[in-house]
Amino acid sequence: MIRDFTDPMTRVLFVCLGNICRSPLAEGVFRHYVRKAGLEDHIEVDSAGTGSWHVGEPPDRRMRRTAEAHGISLDGQRARQFEKEDLERFDHIFAMDKENLQDILYLDDGDAYGHKVRLFREFDPEPGDYQVPDPYYGGPQGFENVFQIVDRTARTLLHRLVEEYDLELRQ
Ligand code: 4NP
Repeated sequence: MIRDFTDPMTRVLFVCLGNICRSPLAEGVFRHYVRKAGLEDHIEVDSAGTGSWHVGEPPDRRMRRTAEAHGISLDGQRARQFEKEDLERFDHIFAMDKENLQDILYLDDGDAYGHKVRLFREFDPEPGDYQVPDPYYGGPQGFENVFQIVDRTARTLLHRLVEEYDLELRQ
């Protein structure tokens, strides 16, 4: 689709496997920084999972607690499954790991949307393997680790979008 320059919204989607740990956190943290910058009328944020097991559920309690400890609320979020239409609807789709990336691109059967889909951690200012580790089967430290990765990456990503779309920050 050709970009509609009369549409002021840039739509951003974060994707993981279950949509109950990593991508809901990315949605919550990124939205927090979007609001702080006064950009909520310019940037829309959502998340989804490539799997369907947790559809309709709120984010994992351990992830919610970790987010809350850092002043971020994940209230009101419910898991949904990534669907083909998301490739059209969103301007930027950020996968949490390489498997998520592959699963998303598998739905792009006409190879039309690959340019919108990237690994979220491409924007991590710290070196790593470009993947956000899945904390689901691990201990509490895994959730805090995910928070730290997502927090610094979300801030860098927002700066990049502000530059790309020439957005004006609230002072
Ligand atoms: P997420 O974590 O992809 O970060 O939401 C997971 C949540 C659930 C499962 C796997 C990963 N699961 O296998 O149910």
